[in-house]
Amino acid sequence: MADAAPLKPESQRPWRHLPGDRRPDTRTMIRVDQAGEYGAARIYAGQLAVIGGRHKHAGEIRHMAQQEQRHLDGMNRIMTARGVRPTLLGPFWHVAGFALGAGTALLGPKAAMACTEAVETVIDEHYGEQTDALADGSDPELKAMIDDYRADEVEHREAAAAHTGGGAFPVLEAVIRAGCRAAIAVAKKI
Ligand SMILES: [Fe+2]
Ligand SMILES: [Fe+2]
Repeated sequence: MADAAPLKPESQRPWRHLPGDRRPDTRTMIRVDQAGEYGAARIYAGQLAVIGGRHKHAGEIRHMAQQEQRHLDGMNRIMTARGVRPTLLGPFWHVAGFALGAGTALLGPKAAMACTEAVETVIDEHYGEQTDALADGSDPELKAMIDDYRADEVEHREAAAAHTGGGAFPVLEAVIRAGCRAAIAVAKKI
């Protein structure tokens, strides 16, 4: 193996794994996150389609949508760079994300914000789990992206909660949170 890429001596690497340690499965993480950011972009697109450009919340939702697009662009880039295959459920998220955004917006702007609050609560938890797993230093690039995007997601959740007063639609929000958790579980598999 004389021609293998030179590795720094073990002691100079930023992390060390012992034989048998489980390293974070970053390829699955990227696939799930790309699917999630795709879904998020579609949720905000659905909200905007219903709420329209002139509503008092429109500017705020458009700002969130732009941030989701930045997250999605980043995940698309790292996915391509590392040759990670996308989720097979892209067409499903395309429709389901839009339907969730549009459907809640049809119930009213407050329900749309409750949807955002529920979705971003789950995304914050999800990114929190990933960043904890990556605290071993095994993938600084991905960890930096997740930390960066997570800060935006928390901002979205707080902004939405400020509109609803927090937990305004407990049943709806519980259903959406459960749906998002199920979506994450599915995206890990396919
Ligand atoms: Fe996002
Ligand atoms: Fe978000």
